[in-house]
Amino acid sequence: MRDIRCLAQNGLKVSPSLLAADFGDLNRQIAEVTTAGADLLHLDIMDGHFVPNLTMGPPVLKSIRPCSELIFDTHLMIAEPLKYVTAFAEAGADHLTFHLESENDPLAVIKAIRAAGCTVGISLKPATPPEAIHPYLPEIDLVLVMTVEPGFGGQSFMANMVPKIRALRERIDDLALPILLEVDGGIDEHTVSAAVDAGAGVLVAGTAVFRHPDGMKAAIARLKGQK
Ligand code: DX5
Ligand code: ZN
Repeated sequence: MRDIRCLAQNGLKVSPSLLAADFGDLNRQIAEVTTAGADLLHLDIMDGHFVPNLTMGPPVLKSIRPCSELIFDTHLMIAEPLKYVTAFAEAGADHLTFHLESENDPLAVIKAIRAAGCTVGISLKPATPPEAIHPYLPEIDLVLVMTVEPGFGGQSFMANMVPKIRALRERIDDLALPILLEVDGGIDEHTVSAAVDAGAGVLVAGTAVFRHPDGMKAAIARLKGQK
């Protein structure tokens, strides 16, 4: 069943970001990352407005949906997520994460995502304090802490985000909520321990998986600490 709520809370999960894949060979790249041990597939949706970059839309999700049974962990970096929730759900997204900094009312977006049959995540840009998400924690399934400024793959991990990861881990544990804590941006075999020690449970990694010199399988194993 493609439902993030079925992912065990214990044990690290890796969500490779397709943004770093070869877009001319998506079918094969997705098949390879699935065999390599990916737990989810992270899809970065950018609208050239909320972030200064453009990536893919619902037609691409629809085309790649038959290639994989992985959960489509869809990261909406778009100004008006409400407008596109239904289109992404119908195209095959299982999970939709939107930004707290988007232009829509968070409760309205949460309601729309649930109505579309997907699980819900909220992401925080680096400048947004962890407390900003507190009112919404009981309503969502995943928190995504950005460890780079959203917009581009291949940037360096912001170590000053570690206290934010830790603060959210503590809050989630204090409230005993079944929420996944995901980190995104600059995660590789060198930076992963800082994020995991602070309490991250789901690791997004683009460059460090799709472009690893030793291949995707070794890359995922190293992120999970299996060497
Ligand atoms: C950045 C995206 C990330 C990005 C991660 O805005 O949200 O998912 O693709 O890429 P790496 O792992 O290369 O930093
Ligand atoms: Zn992302």
